[in-house]
Amino acid sequence: MRDILPDVVKVWTRIDDVAKDCLGRFGYHEIRLPIIEFTALFERGVGGATDIVEKEMFSLESREGDSLTLRPEGTAGCVRAALQNGLAFNTVSRLWYRGPMFRHERPQKGRYRQFEQIGAEVFGIASAALDAELIDINRQIFQGLGVSEYTRLRVNTIGSPEERKAYAQSLKTYLDGHREALDDDSVRRLERNPLRILDSKHPVTREVVAGAPKIDSCLGKDSRCHFERVLALLEALNIDFETDPYLVRGLDYYTHTVFEFETDRLGAQGAVSAGGRYDGLVETLGGRPTPGAGFAIGVDRLALLVNEAQQRAPAARTDILYGVSTDQAALGHVMRIANRLRGDIPGLSVVVDTQGGRMANQMRRADREGASWALIAGESEIAAGVWSLKPMREVGEQQRLTYDALVDRLSKDHGGIS
Ligand code: HAM
Repeated sequence: MRDILPDVVKVWTRIDDVAKDCLGRFGYHEIRLPIIEFTALFERGVGGATDIVEKEMFSLESREGDSLTLRPEGTAGCVRAALQNGLAFNTVSRLWYRGPMFRHERPQKGRYRQFEQIGAEVFGIASAALDAELIDINRQIFQGLGVSEYTRLRVNTIGSPEERKAYAQSLKTYLDGHREALDDDSVRRLERNPLRILDSKHPVTREVVAGAPKIDSCLGKDSRCHFERVLALLEALNIDFETDPYLVRGLDYYTHTVFEFETDRLGAQGAVSAGGRYDGLVETLGGRPTPGAGFAIGVDRLALLVNEAQQRAPAARTDILYGVSTDQAALGHVMRIANRLRGDIPGLSVVVDTQGGRMANQMRRADREGASWALIAGESEIAAGVWSLKPMREVGEQQRLTYDALVDRLSKDHGGIS
């Protein structure tokens, strides 16, 4: 697990802001959920034969002897919360959440044992239009962050639970015939979860998979129709996508539509966001039959991608004004005016030198802070009711300005840059 340092937090905050704004405009409401749940919730919800439950959960025993688990994902807990609070019965709920998830995986770039997700879950809507809306929200968040050109959308359907079961059987029969060519992991999966073999990265297994039967052959009319509607809506919304008959997800609750936004900019960990429909999950967890669908964006990976994109485009600069004073009395003036400026110029960061001392030292600190300007107040400025503004990044004369002229000047420069 790692510390998230201030420079990365800045990118996360931007991601949060863009996502929150977008989800709000689609009518989604934030829900805050505990990070620990009973282990049984994930065993039942995510599925006992998944990698997550088999080998990736951080579990502990409570003082009462209950088995608890740090949540490896957000959907199961969100369904539990919706059930306990009447948000998933005879009603439509559009919810979103954010926060840390925990999986005991081998850490590498883009894969961490504590990672952050922004997720959304919707209960009570069975239509294909919801699936398309969820994908559209992802697209708009990526657009808002300037990374949509680096992502690729793959979609698939895995049908109803019965169709999926029939498909798993036909897949198993086919793969059994090629058992000797499969890698060890895939042979192990053959009995419990053959669909996951479609996901294998092993080159020889992939060759076998290339000849495997596709889910299409097991789909009934309703499932086919649902998927066709999703695809038609994506086209109507001008969303680029690829269908991938071998896209299956690592969690057991999915039905019908599944999707992943991927990037090739982050090496092995390419999935930036993923989701789909899970019409049976509410019932599995003890509720009445209720359709559901959602997604989760991996914030750590998206932040890496935002950084990549920024290296290609000039980064937007946050402007910093650094307040400098000649003595204690002037420091009070600077702190007061800093507050006014923070209120009057949205987005401007005003840092006051609270250490004081020699002017040269204060100016050095202004430089280290990366300030665009220093605002200087001394006896003569206070007596004349003006402020001295000194540009730090561009050539230019120091100017003495009234408060209004100062706001005018900073707004113009600040507005021109950001
Ligand atoms: P997931 O595919 O397991 O789905 O995770 C969603 C996203 O979380 C991934 O695409 C990835 O960006 C990020 N992620 C997963 N594991 C890690 C890790 N170890 N380190 C960094 N990032 C990671 C789910 O979790 C489902 N609950 C999504 C969902 C919501 N489906 C329906 N509703």
